[in-house]
Amino acid sequence: MIQSHERLLIIDFGSQVTQLIARRLRELNVYCEIHPYNRVDDAFLAAFAPKAVILSGGPDSVTREGSPRAPEALWNFGVPVLGICYGQQTMMQQLGGLVESGHGTAEFGRAFVTPENGDLSILDGWFAAGKEQVWMSHGDHVSKIAPGFTVYGTSPNAPFAVTADISRNFYAVQFHPEVHHTPKGAKLYENFIRLAGFKGDWTMKGYREQAIQAIRDQVGDSHVICGLSGGVDSSVTAILLHEAIGDQLTCVFVDHGLLRKNEAADVVKMFRDNYKIKLIAADESDLFLNALEGVSDPEVKRKTIGKLFIDVFQKYANEIEGAKFLAQGTLYPDVIESVSFSGGPSVTIKSHHNVGGLPEKMGLKLVEPLRELFKDEVRALGRELGLPASFIGRHPFPGPGLAIRCPGEITREKLAILQEADAVYIDQIRKHGLYDEIWQAFAAILPMKTVGVMGDGRTYDFAVSIRAVTSVDGMTADTYPFTHEFLGETMTRIINEVKGVNRVFYDLTSKPPGTIELE
Ligand code: XMP
Repeated sequence: MIQSHERLLIIDFGSQVTQLIARRLRELNVYCEIHPYNRVDDAFLAAFAPKAVILSGGPDSVTREGSPRAPEALWNFGVPVLGICYGQQTMMQQLGGLVESGHGTAEFGRAFVTPENGDLSILDGWFAAGKEQVWMSHGDHVSKIAPGFTVYGTSPNAPFAVTADISRNFYAVQFHPEVHHTPKGAKLYENFIRLAGFKGDWTMKGYREQAIQAIRDQVGDSHVICGLSGGVDSSVTAILLHEAIGDQLTCVFVDHGLLRKNEAADVVKMFRDNYKIKLIAADESDLFLNALEGVSDPEVKRKTIGKLFIDVFQKYANEIEGAKFLAQGTLYPDVIESVSFSGGPSVTIKSHHNVGGLPEKMGLKLVEPLRELFKDEVRALGRELGLPASFIGRHPFPGPGLAIRCPGEITREKLAILQEADAVYIDQIRKHGLYDEIWQAFAAILPMKTVGVMGDGRTYDFAVSIRAVTSVDGMTADTYPFTHEFLGETMTRIINEVKGVNRVFYDLTSKPPGTIELE
């Protein structure tokens, strides 16, 4: 936890969109953290010392006995509080108002709020058109506001859409300002943090300096190992660590033989030659490809790669003398302990590749300099550290690599074809200036051969599929709408330039129902 920033606390009641509140605030250069309601007691509040508090939405009903509440100490803590949806309702209930369920006043989706009783600072700039669109999602509603509160905005089904007790700096809204369907939502947050007196001191330059100091304090003169994958997170982790501790850092890059064309060489060049970082580059492709021989089940592939990766990484890490720390590029979304109301772990669609259990197994302590950052903040930090823009903007690449883009059995022949086809496809996308519009694009090689005709001869070669999606976080995705012209040109280039391919498919599947990767 970096202490010197002004801090805002988000108390999480389990809304699906709590993380978006944090995103909106970080965009305003305000440092905030999300903590579940059941971890925030009076002592926590005092220790965290927030300059303002936001109560998130949530799926429960404040009318249910035993439902979540904000800590009582909050109401006398003396900082501005903003309650959103469930947060608004618990605020009202706890301060002496009334909340009721249903009775035909549930509201889901778009609604329009109109002003009441004059101006309210958090709504500055809102009502130029007389009313403003917001996004509602509530079954319960406030039926009586708490003493001291005044209504400042109403919607057809929420007479108390915006209320406030200005003297105590308590603000409550029934809608969700954090979602894009509330177009002026960001303005509302901006107004709120301005009235709370935030200076906006959360910048990447400041973060870089403090993170470097924090790494030095944590690590002392010990040695640190960092696994490099070539992705943005591990690369930024390594460069930040190198800036903090120089030669006390050794990176390990395992080439499992399932990387994209030239990827291993590019990673080595960038880190060893450009950044002069100590790097063990381990070509273990034979080991992985031999272990994958004859394996076609997607989960067996993933588990085989995951287990071998840990073994191999450990083997190289053990050669590094005096290492006491393992660096990981853990990001804030992985750290947030959001409230789960489902009561159990969600279904495993794919077992993800990670090195979760490694530190305990190796007796190493963890250093995680990105654990306070969102993905786009990591990119901003990468830019601050001077990483090339083309590198920072790279599409995500999965841990198991090309293995999951080669459904069925993996062979060296298929991998070589896939690497070439993918390189041509990505080159095409770059040449047309589309790379940055696409969240992820890749080729896959399908487990079949088909008949074709080239020149005067019959061919019997592999089929390749090409995929491109837009997405915000990889959880859902839409197919990128290439033009027919682009697709035709890409098909021609792949078949002409890649030996062994005579057919190209364009994957139109969104997620859901598909996943982004083929396995
Ligand atoms: P799916 O295929 O589940 O992928 O829709 C969502 C996003 O996650 C990436 N992905 C992985 N990333 N290890 C990773 O580091 C994995 O095992 C893994 N599997 C999928 C995928 O590339 C997409 O961006």
